[in-house]
Amino acid sequence: MNADDIRRSLRSQVLGRQIVCLDSVDSTNERAKLLCQQGAEEGTIVIADEQTGGRGRLGRRWHSERGKNLTFSLVITPDLQPGEAGILSLAAALAVAEAVAEATGLRAECKWPNDVLLGGKKCCGILSEAVVVADRAAAVVLGIGLNVNQTSFPPAIGQSATSMMLAAGKPFDRVAVLAAVLAHLETLYSHVRSGETKTILQRWASACPMAGKTIAVDTGKRRITGTVVSFDRDGGMIVRSEGRDNKVFAGDVTIIQS
Ligand code: BTN
Repeated sequence: MNADDIRRSLRSQVLGRQIVCLDSVDSTNERAKLLCQQGAEEGTIVIADEQTGGRGRLGRRWHSERGKNLTFSLVITPDLQPGEAGILSLAAALAVAEAVAEATGLRAECKWPNDVLLGGKKCCGILSEAVVVADRAAAVVLGIGLNVNQTSFPPAIGQSATSMMLAAGKPFDRVAVLAAVLAHLETLYSHVRSGETKTILQRWASACPMAGKTIAVDTGKRRITGTVVSFDRDGGMIVRSEGRDNKVFAGDVTIIQS
């Protein structure tokens, strides 16, 4: 993969207008955050064939076999209103789900807050991080790990992880998949910017079949077991538990009953 190939394939105008394409890096999120401190412009993408310290949510590691998948981070600089970052990370998962469905012809589902599943197994995770420069929320780095052509996973995640290739039975061109993700995300991001969160939530509802399900969500501070009621315009999930509605913004979800 190289920056010229990527540039030739992109259909997006803003996302990917600066491309930093690396053979190996500790974490594309870390590199993108560093570039933000140096004034990286909106739409900058940092992409690597290998991450030596790929990070997941909740302090976990992100494992991705060298050269098989997509591991990249995007610099987004909206004038962030409180709560906008949440909808942005839902939009990112939705963009991946839509691009994966388009490429594979399979149904790709979103799992709140921002996993994408194929056949009930995770093929994509997203780590969204705010970047503060001089005490100001200057940017959001959206780090996306999408399993494209990897066919075996470490035992610890072997039962729960999948890839586009495993699900569809054929390999995919990573650059074409990247171009599709960025095109979908650019459209959804324009809805975030213009305040059309309703459109995003409607598309989210059709890609995320969690409403009405009994779940347990571990927020790191507490564990709530209840029924998913809906998703809010700030990206929060509303869970009804013991007759009371709770809004959660981050956490690990286990689906207990459909
Ligand atoms: C998760 O599901 O826990 C989120 C995983 C996010 C992984 C991506 S890969 C590209 C970017 N760089 C990182 O270090 N992490 C994100």
